[in-house]
Amino acid sequence: MQGRRGIYIKQIKVKIKDFKYDILLGENINLKEVLNPFISRRLFIITDKNLYHYYESYLNNHLNDFNFIFVVVEPSEHSKSFESYESVINTLLQHHISRNDLIVALGGGVVGDLAGFVSATILRGVDLIQIPTSLLAMVDSSIGGKTGIDTTYGKNLVGAFKQPILVVTDTHFLKTLPKVEFINGLAEVLKAGLIRDKALLELLKQDHYDVVEMIYKAIMVKKEIVELDPFESHERMFLNFGHTFGHSIEQAHHYEIKHGFCVAMGMDLALQLGIHLKETNPNLLTEYYQLSDKIGLPRFEGNKTNYIEQIKYDKKHKNGKIYFVLLKEVGQPIICPISEESLYDLSN
Ligand SMILES: NC(=O)c1ccc[n+]([C@@H]2O[C@H](COP(=O)([O-])OP(=O)(O)OC[C@H]3O[C@@H](n4cnc5c(N)ncnc54)[C@H](O)[C@@H]3O)[C@@H](O)[C@H]2O)c1
Repeated sequence: MQGRRGIYIKQIKVKIKDFKYDILLGENINLKEVLNPFISRRLFIITDKNLYHYYESYLNNHLNDFNFIFVVVEPSEHSKSFESYESVINTLLQHHISRNDLIVALGGGVVGDLAGFVSATILRGVDLIQIPTSLLAMVDSSIGGKTGIDTTYGKNLVGAFKQPILVVTDTHFLKTLPKVEFINGLAEVLKAGLIRDKALLELLKQDHYDVVEMIYKAIMVKKEIVELDPFESHERMFLNFGHTFGHSIEQAHHYEIKHGFCVAMGMDLALQLGIHLKETNPNLLTEYYQLSDKIGLPRFEGNKTNYIEQIKYDKKHKNGKIYFVLLKEVGQPIICPISEESLYDLSN
């Protein structure tokens, strides 16, 4: 689609059962124009301190005709907590938020998950717009409606499904994103390629590629999967490839290692587990290392047993088995119920 000011925008239509929304993807999207249909509604822009520092004046300039209020949280996974949830809720209530207002999540996956959970629960639901600013949020967390916060027992254990009414994915935000955060986001792109799109892996192998195209392909993987299975009864579980070990590593290190890096180590372990169980083609691990090393993602090093205990709290745990996503080949994920013993076997 050609934007009215000559700016190229891809309009991706998402349909979750009867609910439809657009993801607008492009560079330098005219925010004022795309938010114009909501001009009569008050906007609560939830963001973090880093984004507020970079984009306060950008938003003030672009949204000067709008009635909006900033709600700023700390920039870290620790903001996905009961404390920040309560603090954001209290701020919105102090401003007498109504159901006609809109919550805008402007930030990475942390802001998206927190603001999404707030919008799902405050007044039993206020509309949500996602404006993802990190690569990870653009290709993954802003799509599909999963929102939530962490608990002392594990990551994302309290949450809700809340579909946004619009996602505005503007790659101009990536200009201020630190390189390490870009690499972090590439872990989810790599995962999308591994579970569903060989062409995306081919693109990642190139030294120079079109970032908008890469984001588009990754969004399409996520969109197609969540449309098939919005509430994670089957296909959506494939998106958890690498996440079972990944979440456990993340929690064991008190969220000091980035989500994408933990997912990369988790994919390494899931491939090793698949090979151990004779489900995964062993060549896949070599191919995986070639790509993850090129991107700059870490391999798993250390003692696996440290992380197995934590997996018991994972949501994919049922009747003493852990439902692991393994890969047979690129594009062929499977869900395997695995006993804790097999996991301890792997660590020997
Ligand atoms: N809901 C889902 O479906 C889903 C999917 C994947 C991951 N997640 C969640 O996403 C979170 C990770 O997201 P993340 O990696 O975006 O982390 P993040 O939100 O913490 O962002 C990473 C860092 O980058 C900064 N940042 C973001 N955009 C920026 C920009 N444009 N310019 C400068 N700095 C910028 C942030 O301030 C932060 O310091 C985890 O909590 C994970 O569980 C959710």
